[in-house]
Amino acid sequence: MKRFVVVANRLPVDAGPGGLVSALQPITRSSGGAWVGWTGNPDERPEPFEHEGVHIHPVELSADDIDRYYEGQSNSTIWPLFHDGVEPSVHHRPWRVAYQAVNMRFAEAAAAVAAEGATVWVHDYQLMLVPGMLRELRPDLRIGFFLHIPFPPVELFMQLPRRTDFVRGLLGADLVGFQQPLAAQNFLRLTTQLLGLRPEGERVEYEGRTVTARAFPISIDVSEIDELAADPEVQEEARRLRKDLGGDRRLLLLGVDRLDYTKGIDQRIEAYGELLADGTVSNEEAVLVQVATPSRMRVAQYQQLRERVEREVGRINGEFGDVGRAPLHYLFQSRSRAELVALYLAADIMLVTPLRDGMNLVAKEYVAARRDEGGALVLSEFTGAASELSDAFLVNPYDVDDLKRGINAAIAASPDDLAARMRKMRETVRANDVGRWAKQFLEALG
Ligand code: ADP
Ligand code: F6P
Repeated sequence: MKRFVVVANRLPVDAGPGGLVSALQPITRSSGGAWVGWTGNPDERPEPFEHEGVHIHPVELSADDIDRYYEGQSNSTIWPLFHDGVEPSVHHRPWRVAYQAVNMRFAEAAAAVAAEGATVWVHDYQLMLVPGMLRELRPDLRIGFFLHIPFPPVELFMQLPRRTDFVRGLLGADLVGFQQPLAAQNFLRLTTQLLGLRPEGERVEYEGRTVTARAFPISIDVSEIDELAADPEVQEEARRLRKDLGGDRRLLLLGVDRLDYTKGIDQRIEAYGELLADGTVSNEEAVLVQVATPSRMRVAQYQQLRERVEREVGRINGEFGDVGRAPLHYLFQSRSRAELVALYLAADIMLVTPLRDGMNLVAKEYVAARRDEGGALVLSEFTGAASELSDAFLVNPYDVDDLKRGINAAIAASPDDLAARMRKMRETVRANDVGRWAKQFLEALG
């Protein structure tokens, strides 16, 4: 039985890219806690085991569960709706039923490993019913919930079938954390609209308990990135990348994302194509490297995005490329942390241009990597990170002209201006590392 339990869709074992695992693995390890989650494979439930100092408690998902709970309700209903509806949200009754059943399985697993009075920290949009279910099973627990993705405006949330169940589910927690203050306010407004509750400030009374809703902007493990950036081998790799891409005379632009339609990858590539077409940049002077990690590839909207991006990459390289010199390198691959940091060090301009993103850790990783105070960050104003990194070149990714303006401003900026911006952003990121984020959340949870 454990005093501290993390409940998340995925276990921190071969979990692939994504903000959540990178954020929580270090904290759970240092507190000797347990982690309840899914291995990522169908019909698999190994016995509980130890992994890098964390007690792992696998929850089994069948192929049907993956189809309905993960790819369906989580990633085709909730994910698009919570990201401003940038793709249409799809609703199916069997998905909702599976989501509820799987949430109950996670709640039961957490109830079985948590010691009397333990703290249980539930994560993200795949598990929004778990706090309420766990409260029923184990009223003795302190329950926290953190939503890693945006929480939508009230009008959009109201489209969700059985919307009140989700609000009740979250109210099962003692503390509900969001990336942004506005998200917490949206949630509190919904408790009034759907349940007639009367929030006061950030607190609301529900079934005889006080629930707090507050913003806790997540961050990265700064020392991990810092150490990689200081590693001579990583620095050598960064020099090799630059050399292979045409040397110091060629400006290196970089995008690093999961291949997700919320990341604005197609708009970014379109903007770069226009810069090449109108002669603002040329294939001799600049190159764009886009690393797009495969993600949720069984979901139709992700397959369509892949097709759009690959068509556009082919068009741009065909139109503006030369033998032995392509203006756009597209890598549909996962890369190691060290390789990512080498890319960050090599890049003159980092393009982080999501249409909507709860936080975006890539932006913070880029800043943390630039110990040399070099490089420029072009950042979408629709990311959580933009609230903290206001010294980036902020852009509206829906407006291709504004994207181009931001990229041009970064190209034209003086080295002094860039260093001053990077210095300020580095102070912010270094002062707000993921350890501090977790500590603040857990202290508020009490
Ligand atoms: P999300 O949680 O939506 O995937 P974030 O930017 O917040 O987006 O977090 C992404 C995390 O995944 C970062 O830690 C980033 O370094 C990592 N990542 C992104 N792309 C890759 C890749 N190609 N290879 C390895 N890690 C990646
Ligand atoms: O917060 C966004 C998120 O869903 C995380 O839960 C996860 O780490 C990441 O995106 C990757 O997504 P998935 O687990 O669906 O591959």
